[in-house]
Formats: sequence, C-alpha cells, structure tokens
Amino acid sequence: MTDLRPTRDTIPALADTLAGMSGAEIVDRALAAHGDRGAIAFSGAEDVLLIEYAAQSGRPFRVFALDTGRLHPETYDLFARVEARYRIRIEVLFPDTAAVEALVKAKGWFSFLADGHQECCGIRKVEPLRRMLGTLDGWITGQRRDQSTTRAAVPAVQIDPAFRGAGGGDLVKWNPLANTAGADVWAAIRALEVPYNTLHERGFVSIGCAPCTRPVLPNQHEREGRWWWEDAGGKECGLHKGNLR
Ligand code: ADX
Ligand code: SF4
Repeated sequence: MTDLRPTRDTIPALADTLAGMSGAEIVDRALAAHGDRGAIAFSGAEDVLLIEYAAQSGRPFRVFALDTGRLHPETYDLFARVEARYRIRIEVLFPDTAAVEALVKAKGWFSFLADGHQECCGIRKVEPLRRMLGTLDGWITGQRRDQSTTRAAVPAVQIDPAFRGAGGGDLVKWNPLANTAGADVWAAIRALEVPYNTLHERGFVSIGCAPCTRPVLPNQHEREGRWWWEDAGGKECGLHKGNLR
C-alpha cells in the first residue's frame, strides 16, 4: 500500500495543492494518510465541523479532547451530543493530578489572572496534549487564519513546529479549515445541522476554559474573548505555540 503520510520533502507542494481544496476534502486526505495513527483535536467549539467532515468521509476516525477540568458545562454537553450523533467515543485526556494539585495548592484557583495563563495551560493542556501527540503520526486541528493575527499564516498542512510524534518522529499537523472563513464555517454548521455549543447562542465565539473565556460584542474580534487581561500578540496557550515563531 502506498504510504500517504506527508514528509518534510512533500509537504510544501502538498500545502499548495490543499490551499485550493475544501475543508472536507482536506479532512479526507488527512484521515487517509494516517489511519489510526491520526486524530482530530476537538475543543468543543466550532471545530465540530471537522467531525462532521470526518463522518462524511466514511473513513474510521479518532477524536480527542483535552479536559482541563475548567471547561463550561455547555462544552461537556456538546461532547455528549457529538458522541451520540456520530456514534463515536471522544478520547479524553486529563492533566496530571499531582501537577494540578501542586499548582492550586501553591497559587490558588486563578493564578493565571496574576501571572499569566502559560503555567496553568502548560499543566492542564500542553502536557496532556504532548502525551497524546507522542502516540500519533498526525493530528487535525480547527485552526483558521482568520481567528487571530498569530494564525494569519497557518498552512493547511505542516510539520508540527512545536511537538513530536510517536517515537520522537515528525508529527504532521493538518489545519483543514485554515483557509475557511468563520462565516463559512457557521454556514456549513447550520446547513448540515451539526450540533454546536450553546454558548455560541450567548455571544461566545472562541471557546476555551470557563474562567478564561467570555462573550464578545458584535464586531469585536473573537480572540478578545480569550485571556482578555493579556496582550493580544501572545495569545497562544501552548497548543499552537509554533505559530508564535
Ligand atoms: S487555543 O490554543 O487558543 O486554546 P483554540 O481554542 O483557538 O486554541 O482552538 C484551536 C484548535 O486547537 C481547535 O480547533 C482544536 O483542534 C485544538 N484545541 C483547542 N483546545 C482544545 C482542547 N481542549 N482539546 C482538544 N483540542 C483542542
Ligand atoms: Fe488554565 Fe485558563 Fe489555560 Fe484553562 S485556559 S488551562 S483555566 S489558564
């Protein structure tokens, strides 16, 4: 069987090809390339469209979510509805218990308000993500160029600039929605009747952890609803820190 996994050598040309393809087509390519060594990273927000596209492809697919312990009840509700709708089990990663206990014991529940979100995100998101990615050859994210200035150059496929895959090897990062506008993501969610997080009905656009996410006003940038007490330029929590280089 032909190995469809992209490599450092083939990725530049592939990224050009994918730039002209739809999100659904790119998801299909990614699933074909990695099989069970690939997985969709699902945050519980509008990236649910990736799961719809994966289901449409007819291929088997894996989905994982990082449960930081600080998600909104509405996000857990969406996880359950997605599992029922697509007949899948989301693989949930939890943070290291001892690390969370030590952080909260030393600094309380809201340390990120005083000294930035990196430490808490490092424990609750990045370490579990690293653990998961260390078992994979490829992962699929819902990053889009229009989400943030830090994402303005995100390609549809890349070698992950920040994480390593199984056995310490290269990890392929697919961003099938990179070139899709937020308005088009929402048009698809509505047209296809994809389940969505009900927080979106209350002004939330970008959704992360409850204490670090708030609704935005009409025409306010979605990223202003995340870690609003920090500078806009550094708003990557570590999952996509390669964007900051
Ligand atoms: S974040 O880095 O600022 O939190 P964002 O919320 O924009 O990221 O989501 C971008 C993509 O990162 C999502 O579409 C998803 O692929 C991945 N992601 C973010 N948070 C999670 C999570 N809790 N679990 C799994 N994947 C996530
Ligand atoms: Fe902690 Fe906030 Fe990061 Fe969630 S988003 S892991 S609560 S700092």
